[in-house]
Amino acid sequence: MLKAKIAVLVSGGGTNLQALIDAQQSGKLKSGEIVLVVSSSETAYAVERAKKHKIPFVVVPRKAFPCQSEFEEKIQSALEEYGIQLVILAGFMSILSAEFVSKWEKRMINVHPSLIPSFCGEGFYGLKVHEAAIRYGVKVTGATVHFVNEIPDGGEIILQKSVPVYKGDTPEKLQKRVMERAEHIILPRAAELVSREILKEGGKYGL
Ligand code: GAR
Repeated sequence: MLKAKIAVLVSGGGTNLQALIDAQQSGKLKSGEIVLVVSSSETAYAVERAKKHKIPFVVVPRKAFPCQSEFEEKIQSALEEYGIQLVILAGFMSILSAEFVSKWEKRMINVHPSLIPSFCGEGFYGLKVHEAAIRYGVKVTGATVHFVNEIPDGGEIILQKSVPVYKGDTPEKLQKRVMERAEHIILPRAAELVSREILKEGGKYGL
C-alpha cells in the first residue's frame, strides 16, 4: 500500500514520536510511514527512540549553523533527500521562518500542549504552557494539533482534546496528563487524517 512519507522533527524526550511509532505498529497510522527523524539536539532521547526502531535520523543543531537560513537549508535538503510529504513537529523547539514554513503549506503539522487559542504563541512551549495554565487557574486544558503557518501556533486546527486540571497540580503532573490523555492520542490520529488527504491528492503532491 502506498503511504505518505513522514518526517518527525524533535528536540527532546520524543514521547510524541513514540506515540507515532506505536500507532504505526498497531495499524492506527496506516496511510503514512515515518521515514526520517530530524533532531535539533544531539542528546535528545528522541534520537535513541529512532535508533531503536531503525528509523533514519539526522541531527541538525541550530548552534552549528551561522544563520537561520543555513539551518533551514540543511533541514530542507534532508526532507527532500527522503522525499518527505508530511512534516510533523513533535516537540521541535527551534523556530522556523515564515519562508520555510510556506514551502510546507498544509503539509506540516504541530502538536501544542494547550487548547489553542489559550496559552500559545511565542514563549509558550513545553512546561511553560502548563505553568501558565496553572497560574491562570483554568479548570480544563488539553492539546491541539494544527497545520503550521507563519503565525506561531496560529494555523488551522485539525484536532483538539481536553484534559482536566486538578487542585494541587504541578506543571510536571499536568504535562504528563496532557501528554498521555491528549497529545499521544490526537497526534497519531491527525497524522493519519492528513496522510490520507495527501494520498488522495496524490497528483497535487507529486506522488
Ligand atoms: C510536548 O508536550 C509538546 O506538545 C511540546 O513539547 C513537548 C515535547 O515532548 N511542544 C511545544 O510546546 C511546542 N510549542 P516530547 O519530546 O516528549 O514529545
